[in-house]
Amino acid sequence: MTLLDVENLWVKFPTRQGVFDAVRGVSFTLGRERLGIVGESGSGKSMTGRAILRLIRPPGIVEADHIRLGDRNLLDLSERDMRAVRGQQISMVMQDPKFSLNPVMSIGEQLIEAYRLANKSGRKEARQASLEALESVSIRDPGRVMAAYPHEMSGGMGQRIMIAMMLIPSPQILIADEPTSALDVSVQRQVLSIMDDLVTSRGMGLIFISHDLNLVADFCDRVLIMYAGRVVEVCRADRLHEAQHPYTRGLLNSLPRLNEPREKLEVLRRDPAWSTAPSVSGRA
Ligand SMILES: Nc1ncnc2c1ncn2[C@@H]1O[C@H](COP(=O)(O)OP(=O)(O)OP(=O)(O)O)[C@@H](O)[C@H]1O
Ligand SMILES: [Mg+2]
Repeated sequence: MTLLDVENLWVKFPTRQGVFDAVRGVSFTLGRERLGIVGESGSGKSMTGRAILRLIRPPGIVEADHIRLGDRNLLDLSERDMRAVRGQQISMVMQDPKFSLNPVMSIGEQLIEAYRLANKSGRKEARQASLEALESVSIRDPGRVMAAYPHEMSGGMGQRIMIAMMLIPSPQILIADEPTSALDVSVQRQVLSIMDDLVTSRGMGLIFISHDLNLVADFCDRVLIMYAGRVVEVCRADRLHEAQHPYTRGLLNSLPRLNEPREKLEVLRRDPAWSTAPSVSGRA
């Protein structure tokens, strides 16, 4: 079942030198699955995620044939309706969690507010649910964390708090942008297993943005590989290591491997044709 259908998405930034296209004609569908987006820095992964939620700051422009969620095209919604979508149907964990938390509000207040918005509940119930949300991402002293402010948290703690916050409304779709990059391996596993559970038991759709090809190969179902704003290849995650596109091969070959120590890691050789070929469709 398709939850989200994105057709011909573009993100454009007007600059003094002309228009810079950060995302160029990307199309894909998302079902009740874990869809990975990989690619080098600057390839357009975050802009793709943010564009879906219309979170591109001006003067950036989002264009698409459609971004369909159920029977609605998100591009047709008012800003007010879009806020409701963000609060209830699609959540996003941003790459830098510190910028998404409000610096002058305690973490507890922010969680309680998020819960009350989503559930129209009283404070007491919201507080209890917030404590449980923090526990669910392995925060051991949730009471202390509730009273703290964002700047008092480490990067890894900030990521966990964001994940807890995003899960409060029980979204249909979660867009997670490098959600575990600041976490230790053991906490990373816990966070992945929480997201995994939401996909398999609650039928959520997950867009998982990451640099880490090995992690995506293990954790996701399908993968879109991006280069210079386009999708250059789409494959099943468990086949990622057999991917064919020379860019994907290059990314894979530049990964260090424990069982095959090498003197030097390969440097990616780029073919100008990669950036002119049309984006590959990621429709399932
Ligand atoms: N406000 C802006 N004005 C102009 N260009 C921008 C702006 N914001 C982002 N870009 C450009 O858009 C491109 C895509 O950026 P994006 O953040 O999506 O990359 P990414 O794949 O998420 O990279 P990373 O792995 O480093 O997070 C980059 O080349 C970036 O420089
Ligand atoms: Mg990014």
